Amino acid sequence: MVTHSAEFYKKAPPQKGASSFVYPPTGDNLAFFAEALKAGCLVAIPTETVYGLAGLALDEAASRSIFQVKGRPLMDPLILHVANPGMVEQLADIPPGFSRLTEAFWPGPLTIILPKKPVVPNLVTAGKPTVAVRMPRHPVAHALLERVGQPLAAPSANPFGYVSPSTAQHVTDSFGDLVPFVIDGGACEIGLESTILDLSNADSPQILRPGAISAEQVSEVLGRPVQVRNQQLNLNQAATAPGTFNKHYSPKTKLSLFDEDENPSLSGNQAVVYLQRPSSIDDKHSYWLSEDGDMETIAKSLFALLRQLDAMGYESIACQKPNPAASGLAHAVADRMQRAAAK
Ligand code: TXA
Ligand code: MG
Repeated sequence: MVTHSAEFYKKAPPQKGASSFVYPPTGDNLAFFAEALKAGCLVAIPTETVYGLAGLALDEAASRSIFQVKGRPLMDPLILHVANPGMVEQLADIPPGFSRLTEAFWPGPLTIILPKKPVVPNLVTAGKPTVAVRMPRHPVAHALLERVGQPLAAPSANPFGYVSPSTAQHVTDSFGDLVPFVIDGGACEIGLESTILDLSNADSPQILRPGAISAEQVSEVLGRPVQVRNQQLNLNQAATAPGTFNKHYSPKTKLSLFDEDENPSLSGNQAVVYLQRPSSIDDKHSYWLSEDGDMETIAKSLFALLRQLDAMGYESIACQKPNPAASGLAHAVADRMQRAAAK
């Protein structure tokens, strides 16, 4: 299925743990994985947001493997990752405002949707006339992109619909030998997927997915108002709004949410997740996303804790939700929690 993988697998650098598919980002390993990517293999890579399942973006076979490995519907387009803003010129038409955005936010967690050029396969964009591009700032992702010299398609490295991975271990936990090449770049600095800004109609920029870069920050740089797309979409609407499936990022365990100023209603075999360490812990099934409510720590911890609790066999999880009005990042955290809890 994954082109040339078997051949490269035989040549893979030696590993300490015989069964491990996770490799440290040494210079030799990066050189090897850059060659593997150029030959059409898939490699899971760290970024500052979440781990991505990367393959050559302009190679249809590699992109097709990405959809297959993730179990992702072909109607849900991929993000292209670039080594520098100049790389976008071959891929998309550049509207006014684009360079101001890249100067302000790249490399970093902002994905920008632009009108695509014909070189980008329709498979990659799910037949849409637009393409999503992002320049990641994680040094390992950046080094690989420079070595490969071509854009890499990289959706989050999780099975479709499941919680995104914020460590290399999360990737192998989900995929095992289906993704034998995972580069370990440590726990992701941000831990939530990038902000997605639709700039394909330059007159009406719109945030499709909230992330660490807020609508206010984008609006300030563009010097114009930026819409935030209403999140209440369902699967029937997904064809017009891919990437914004209501149910997404979900653990297998049933998840419910309660507000910051509420107490959870306790029931049965349930884990309770607080935003910060509670002053009195009355229950050994209490967990928290930060010591002190720091939103960056909460964002960074969320996916790891959901995955951990999912593996512990609870009947349900009750999770405290930040007030989305509190900050751009609180909005993004609340968005991911709502999607994880959607039926
Ligand atoms: O932080 C991130 O963005 C991570 C890291 C690996 O870069 N990537 C990521 O990719 O989250 P993915 O594929 O899991 O989520 C990207 C979303 C998809 O759900 C897709 O539907 C949407 O972006 N998307 C991609 N191209 C689009 C387009 N042309 N129009 C509308 N939405 C698009
Ligand atoms: Mg994803």
